[in-house]
Amino acid sequence: MRTINVELGDRSYPIVIKRGVLTQIGSRMSELGLKGKAAVVTNPTVGDIYADRVMKGLKAAGYKPILITVPDGEEYKSIKEASSIYDSLITHKMERGSPIVALGGGVIGDITGFVASTYLRGVPYIQVPTTLLSQVDSSVGGKTAVNHPLGKNLIGAFYQPRAVYIDPDVLSTLPEREVRAGMAEVIKYGVIWDKDFFGFLLKYSGIFFKLGREMTRAIERSCEIKAEVVGKDETEQGLRSILNLGHTFGHAIETGAGYGTFKHGEAVAIGMAMAAGLSVKLGLCGADVKDRIEGLINSIGLPIKPPGLSAEAFIESMKLDKKVAESRLRFVLITEIGKVILREVGEDDVRAFLES
Ligand SMILES: NC(=O)c1ccc[n+]([C@@H]2O[C@H](COP(=O)([O-])OP(=O)(O)OC[C@H]3O[C@@H](n4cnc5c(N)ncnc54)[C@H](O)[C@@H]3O)[C@@H](O)[C@H]2O)c1
Repeated sequence: MRTINVELGDRSYPIVIKRGVLTQIGSRMSELGLKGKAAVVTNPTVGDIYADRVMKGLKAAGYKPILITVPDGEEYKSIKEASSIYDSLITHKMERGSPIVALGGGVIGDITGFVASTYLRGVPYIQVPTTLLSQVDSSVGGKTAVNHPLGKNLIGAFYQPRAVYIDPDVLSTLPEREVRAGMAEVIKYGVIWDKDFFGFLLKYSGIFFKLGREMTRAIERSCEIKAEVVGKDETEQGLRSILNLGHTFGHAIETGAGYGTFKHGEAVAIGMAMAAGLSVKLGLCGADVKDRIEGLINSIGLPIKPPGLSAEAFIESMKLDKKVAESRLRFVLITEIGKVILREVGEDDVRAFLES
């Protein structure tokens, strides 16, 4: 078992990584002093496999949990679904202290966190992430959101969970493509923060999919890095932006290719390769750095080649990204493996790179 703390003063919280922790959520919540009824929010895909275990554990710990199920899919990360979760919470008279458990991937984690941040002006919530992406990224750090028809994650709040419980065993039922997509975020941590971790990923790239010790180690190190970054810059005033490596290009790829064509992680993988390319073009790092990053992405079985979008389509889409400040294009760029910088790049330079 490994416990990593996200240090945020009186809002600090543990990330517990432990095989089989899924059955202990109830007793662990009780140890945190969480009382009252409890609600578990999940979707049918995850709920059919795992809700029973979580509900039993909650009951054994003295909670009277209710189960709230929302349909599976990014399109249900919406105000409408959030509203139907509020309906259930109100109908079951969930009170201010009643904890809510998010059992699922990033979609469930984001919408549940958003509901928890707003229901009765904020109730405690627990993240139980079940995809690799949510275990290494979205469950940690308190970004919660629902989508708006005009853009992803436009409605949301920073609202930290009371704990994150990660059971690496649940990845055994996750489709391999989802595991691969989650690996893009894992690679990201090596590139932005830790060259030894990057080396570790390269060394074991062939065996992560066996979901053994190496995968657990990869989850742990990713969570350590995310916790450290979030502890230093909770609301993304500066440092936290480095977690967006590959995301500016990635979001443009997701939008441009049509949502659903690429998984988020796949688009981020291409985005990282593009960020490496732009870094070389601007003279920030050598071509060897780009080659090593592309090599690792490839060896995990993720794509590096952007889809055939025009430079203009890329630029227009990147300008709409909510991370863009005053219409200036800002990128996380790479100086060496393990070190990145934030840099504004002129539109002409970006265009020249995209056309090259
Ligand atoms: N809050 C943040 O900081 C943050 C960061 C990154 C991404 N996100 C958000 O996360 C979302 C993407 O999350 P995701 O990639 O986890 O996708 P997801 O939640 O849609 O899960 C992917 C699929 O896997 C299924 N699934 C989940 N766990 C499973 C398991 N153990 N076994 C079998 N099937 C399982 C889900 O039902 C779904 O069909 C996006 O909405 C994105 O905006 C948020």
